[in-house]
Amino acid sequence: MSEKILITGAAGFIGSALALRLLERGDNVVGIDNHNDYYDPALKEARLARHADHPNYAHLRIDIADRKAMEAAFADHKPQRVVNLAAQAGVRYSIENPLAYIDSNLVGFGHILEGCRHHGIEHLVYASSSSVYGANTAMPFSVHHNVDHPLSLYAASKKANELMAHTYSHLYGLPTTGLRFFTVYGPWGRPDMALFKFTKAILAGEKIPVFNHGRHRRDFTYIDDIVEGVIRVLDQPARPNPDWSGDRPDPGTSMAPWRVYNIGNNRPVDLMDYIAALEKALGRKAAMEMLPLQPGDVPDTYADVQDLVREFGYQPATPVERGVAAFVDWYHGFCRT
Ligand SMILES: NC(=O)c1ccc[n+]([C@@H]2O[C@H](COP(=O)([O-])OP(=O)(O)OC[C@H]3O[C@@H](n4cnc5c(N)ncnc54)[C@H](O)[C@@H]3O)[C@@H](O)[C@H]2O)c1
Repeated sequence: MSEKILITGAAGFIGSALALRLLERGDNVVGIDNHNDYYDPALKEARLARHADHPNYAHLRIDIADRKAMEAAFADHKPQRVVNLAAQAGVRYSIENPLAYIDSNLVGFGHILEGCRHHGIEHLVYASSSSVYGANTAMPFSVHHNVDHPLSLYAASKKANELMAHTYSHLYGLPTTGLRFFTVYGPWGRPDMALFKFTKAILAGEKIPVFNHGRHRRDFTYIDDIVEGVIRVLDQPARPNPDWSGDRPDPGTSMAPWRVYNIGNNRPVDLMDYIAALEKALGRKAAMEMLPLQPGDVPDTYADVQDLVREFGYQPATPVERGVAAFVDWYHGFCRT
């Protein structure tokens, strides 16, 4: 049976890829996006153009921080499931413009929770982030580890979403699942992220800034793997963990229908190897400027995905060489148009 699914951030990198896949499998999709100019809105329009005219797609250009508009969106469209991907993203920008994170990630998320509560939503899936692991150094990062030491307001806002969702799962029985995405990359990706910036700079013959002197290890996760993971999770509403105990509270599950999962490649790659994969795909060498660790950044990320594998039989697996080559192919085509 096809479902009506509300996706916020539907003109974004992950949101538009998800909308396309859900439409392909026959779902009805309502997309919300405010098309803000954090990065070039023309890219958001171009992504949206892939599915805007689909007969089962409706698009609302509204801000999730606009309470009245969000109330009307839920009342008019009556979705059954919700995927919240709209957020002010980016760790570094949260140091420049912290209030953008309060508006979209906290106030906006509050409106999503209220809409879900009042309209009997079957399952809310929302984007969290690997950045919630903050000062943790125990690898791989596990949802069963405590994550109370964020290093940026972005990370704190994502952790806050997990906490806010828990209260709604507990008080109103709303099934909610938070997905901690690990550095997502691929075609139609974000211009503020390393792969896009590096590609642009290398093709222009400019130096690329390499932070932490290249000593980063990241679990780079390919967009199609993220979309597959989101869909598998969306189809299986969160359930309470019958073994959860307040005496020894497990941070990754609950007595309420609330879950969090990592979605990462489970195979961290050295930043320098990622750059080498890009050089190979572009057929050009990169000139590099070695720089210190940026404020708010974490040096390494590595996802423990055991829960995802156990409960959904799924694990992202695209190797970076293949994913980076797919990005470069898309980039050449996109920049030519
Ligand atoms: N891409 C990654 O590596 C990554 C990693 C971890 C978490 N995430 C999270 O995944 C989600 C999607 O990320 P993305 O990479 O697709 O980012 P994106 O910026 O491409 O997509 C977010 C979309 O939401 C929209 N938006 C932002 N604030 C809004 C608001 N107040 N009202 C309505 N629309 C709004 C933007 O216009 C944008 O199109 C975000 O929550 C992000 O924090 C992404």
